[in-house]
Amino acid sequence: MSAPNKSYDPVEVETLKPEEIERMRDEALAAFAAADSLDALHEAKVAQTGPTSPLALANREIGALPPHAKAEAGKRVGQARGAVNKALAARQVELEAERDARVLVEEAVDVTLPYDRVPSGARHPLTTMMERVADVFVAMGYEVAEGPEAEAEWFNFDALNFLPDHPARQMQDTFFVQGPEGTDESGSGVVLRTHTSPVQARALLDRELPVYIVCPGRVFRTDELDATHTPVFHQIELLAVDEGLTMADLKGTLDHMVQALFGADMKTRLRPNFFPFTEPSAEMDMLCYVCKGESIGNPDRPCRTCSSEGWIELGGCGMVNPRVLTACGVDPEKYSGFAFGFGIERMLMFRHNVEDMRDMVEGDVRFTRPFGMEI
Ligand code: DAH
Repeated sequence: MSAPNKSYDPVEVETLKPEEIERMRDEALAAFAAADSLDALHEAKVAQTGPTSPLALANREIGALPPHAKAEAGKRVGQARGAVNKALAARQVELEAERDARVLVEEAVDVTLPYDRVPSGARHPLTTMMERVADVFVAMGYEVAEGPEAEAEWFNFDALNFLPDHPARQMQDTFFVQGPEGTDESGSGVVLRTHTSPVQARALLDRELPVYIVCPGRVFRTDELDATHTPVFHQIELLAVDEGLTMADLKGTLDHMVQALFGADMKTRLRPNFFPFTEPSAEMDMLCYVCKGESIGNPDRPCRTCSSEGWIELGGCGMVNPRVLTACGVDPEKYSGFAFGFGIERMLMFRHNVEDMRDMVEGDVRFTRPFGMEI
């Protein structure tokens, strides 16, 4: 830095002369114009505007000037630096635009080319829904149980206290694989199971007591495929047999399930019904998880999910009929149990507003994709 100068005039300090400042400015502008890449521009920026650039050094000289000379010199350097920064910014914009245009050309992708990658698949929402339900029970210590889809008529009906003339056995409802007449001395035919309940009987015969099982599975009935029916569908069955189980345990288990699946403020209600394999039996409804019952009798708040009924029918349940326990070698004096079963398709329909069951079976990925890529 130059030494303080008594009779000071900025033009006397070599670096602060107007021609010098102009020269430095022009040199900087030329350097930016010459930079042909963003890297080169960065180098020119450091050289022309950095702390050791000519203009920065000239700026430092101002401090040594007498007060009356500082303003003019400051203005001159300031204007030059302003012009330099502006030119730098403009060149930066230019070079970035050039780079972007180049990248667009160089990295262009022909989206019309056929692609050879196999799209990654995802499991069907029915599968993930069944697992989600089963997980709720596995977390409570239940075991997942399975049974055959082609099932002995005895397990599907007789063991569950369906009398021989029960209408469900008729050809109209049940797919018979083999009629009773063509079978061995047991006299039992083979059917495609019409529900997952035969797994109850299998579990009681196979396992040590107490039994706590959850059984997700495919079931079959002679229905036509339409918006609300499908001949192949899915159920989840639950069975608990232990000493001292009561209907209160059933109710608590159902409430826990709907809370785990639909939210903490959910609950269920039971309505009397009849099933041959439970006594007493009930239909189970869950509170509508959308309106939480607020739509009942409230025209200002209609609910599409439950048709303003406040409740959604889920399936059947009850206390295991002592006849079933006896048929499976369990002493009904010592043990009691509860069971329930419901359809997964129906649950998927109201939980996800699926209006047509055919969408679930047709295998169009446009249906499954919005459920996410759960694998
Ligand atoms: N199996 C019955 C059906 O398919 C549903 C059912 C009702 C299952 C009552 C149960 C039960 O476990 O206890 O309609």
